[in-house]
Amino acid sequence: MLIKYKSSYEKISMGLLAFMPEEKNVKKLQQKIKKYEEDPRWQLYLWKEDEDIVGIVGVSLLEDDTVQLNHISVNPSFREEGIGKEMISALQEIYNGKLVPSVQTALFFAKCDSDNCE
Ligand SMILES: CC(C)(COP(=O)(O)OP(=O)(O)OC[C@H]1O[C@@H](n2cnc3c(N)ncnc32)[C@H](O)[C@@H]1OP(=O)(O)O)[C@@H](O)C(=O)NCCC(=O)NCCS
Repeated sequence: MLIKYKSSYEKISMGLLAFMPEEKNVKKLQQKIKKYEEDPRWQLYLWKEDEDIVGIVGVSLLEDDTVQLNHISVNPSFREEGIGKEMISALQEIYNGKLVPSVQTALFFAKCDSDNCE
């Protein structure tokens, strides 16, 4: 189940975002979280599986009305169970199919597309 980020999830969110290959710098990670907290065009969601938070996706609303997937990450213990694809499907539903990838999420986004995970 996709749930909206709130500040009490900051630490778990940092941990999940740190699995993104380009998000290894702690200072930069903190700045990204701040951006998601403060900019209404940036939205962060967490994936809850039973009582565990095991995944994260972050999007930003672009000028042309599309919604860019900036971040997607799943706790390694829960990978290969379809959670990444489920998160993209849930976002496509929220944003009426207007989700587009960023450079950083393009590979998995394309994988999802080719598997018809919408
Ligand atoms: C990418 C990620 C979110 C996928 O999560 P997941 O829950 O394991 O994904 P799913 O179980 O829904 O899908 C697994 C499928 O995606 C493929 N896959 C995993 N990571 C991939 C990637 N970076 N690019 C393309 N395909 C990928 C797997 O090989 C698997 O393929 P299969 O269905 O043919 O066996 C997860 O591997 C992760 O957190 N990676 C680290 C963060 C990251 O690199 N994010 C950017 C990705 S472009």
